[in-house]
Amino acid sequence: MTSVAVLGSTGSIGTQTLDVIRSNPEDFSVEVLAAGTSTDLVMKQIEEFKPSLVVMANAEASERIKSEFDSLQVYHGKKPLEKAATQSDVIVNAIVGFAGLPVTLSALHAGKRLALANKESLIAGGPIVRKVRESTNAEIIPVDSEHCALHQCLRGNADNLNGPSGPVKKLLLTASGGPFREWTKDQLRQVTVEDSLNHPTWNMGPKITVDSSTLMNKGLEIIEAHELFGIGYEHIDVVVHPQSIVHSMVEFVDSSVIAQLSMPDMRLPISYALRYPERSQGSWGEIDWGTLNRLDFEKPNEDMFPCLGLAYEAGQMGETAPAWLNAANEIAVESFLQGTIDWMQISEVIQMTLNECDGNLAEVENDIYAADKKARTIATAVIEKL
Ligand SMILES: NC(=O)c1ccc[n+]([C@@H]2O[C@H](COP(=O)([O-])OP(=O)(O)OC[C@H]3O[C@@H](n4cnc5c(N)ncnc54)[C@H](OP(=O)(O)O)[C@@H]3O)[C@@H](O)[C@H]2O)c1
Repeated sequence: MTSVAVLGSTGSIGTQTLDVIRSNPEDFSVEVLAAGTSTDLVMKQIEEFKPSLVVMANAEASERIKSEFDSLQVYHGKKPLEKAATQSDVIVNAIVGFAGLPVTLSALHAGKRLALANKESLIAGGPIVRKVRESTNAEIIPVDSEHCALHQCLRGNADNLNGPSGPVKKLLLTASGGPFREWTKDQLRQVTVEDSLNHPTWNMGPKITVDSSTLMNKGLEIIEAHELFGIGYEHIDVVVHPQSIVHSMVEFVDSSVIAQLSMPDMRLPISYALRYPERSQGSWGEIDWGTLNRLDFEKPNEDMFPCLGLAYEAGQMGETAPAWLNAANEIAVESFLQGTIDWMQISEVIQMTLNECDGNLAEVENDIYAADKKARTIATAVIEKL
């Protein structure tokens, strides 16, 4: 029986993780649940999964849960969240945004398996996460479908996933292209929040859905791939593949390409990360080869979707620059969702914030928190001026 901490249990990845556990009660138990403020849903999850520890983002939420479950350990805030990330065999980081960084660091410090959905922590904290991973040898098994695909393609084909790439020529990250793949520049000027939340192939939380519409999600994933697999940016390419069946590919030095294909269902990569190196006996949707008909591939349009280029730029700058990129993006997306800026201005805010990046080194954890704070202040000021 593997004990699991589901941190971010009320979101899209969190609820799908609980779905995987619900389908395999003989293999997994839920030890810890954590979420922001969605108390009603957390209380239902407590009744069903009977965790021994619950952590919420604020006191109001934790007090409300405590009043209903008086014998349960319920806490709130960063320190308890860090502790929660050491309390199970597998830690699923399904929190959205920079708030997931303490979970990633704490789980790796404790030498736990980290099933990582929260890409933002790896992007913002890359150099620090690298050091912790090296010192404890803790495993990160990616939950992001593209990186799960790369992990599967590399398995058995490249001896050391985290070391020099050796036989690997290129990582090819696939992108659905989002809802605006075929839109003109004039149409992009009119994008509404509703349009951007209407993803063609995946049903996800609002932040990542907007990121997918700007292609910043793919930009973040380029940095995520660099951090996970230790491969240079010049060897990571993006290919648009609208059907979201090929989840990513690895090209080897002899030009042989290995791809991972499956239906677009996040429960497959979640279950892979929970069970690795074994595989789930149950299926999360089989491909019907008789009706699939075609798989299309094309180059991404970086003129229409400048976030992709901005992510390469920040990744290549390294150190705290990806933390600036991530913070600027979080602020811009939040402002777009609140109706303060329009969709085209998301990339402008990120570009203008990155222009102010001080290039500080990322030597200790606090360098990341300082970079995040400074970039948020600058991005907020940029938005006020727009
Ligand atoms: N959804 C996907 O298919 C998908 C695919 C690949 C990667 N990812 C990545 O997975 C992560 C989660 O995405 P999502 O789509 O599942 O997001 P989501 O649906 O918005 O869920 C976010 C979760 O984080 C919790 N949360 C927010 N702030 C928190 C805090 N300060 N402390 C503790 N918990 C907090 C939320 O709790 P409340 O509900 O209480 O606010 C919720 O449980 C993101 O990094 C995303 O990029 C998602």
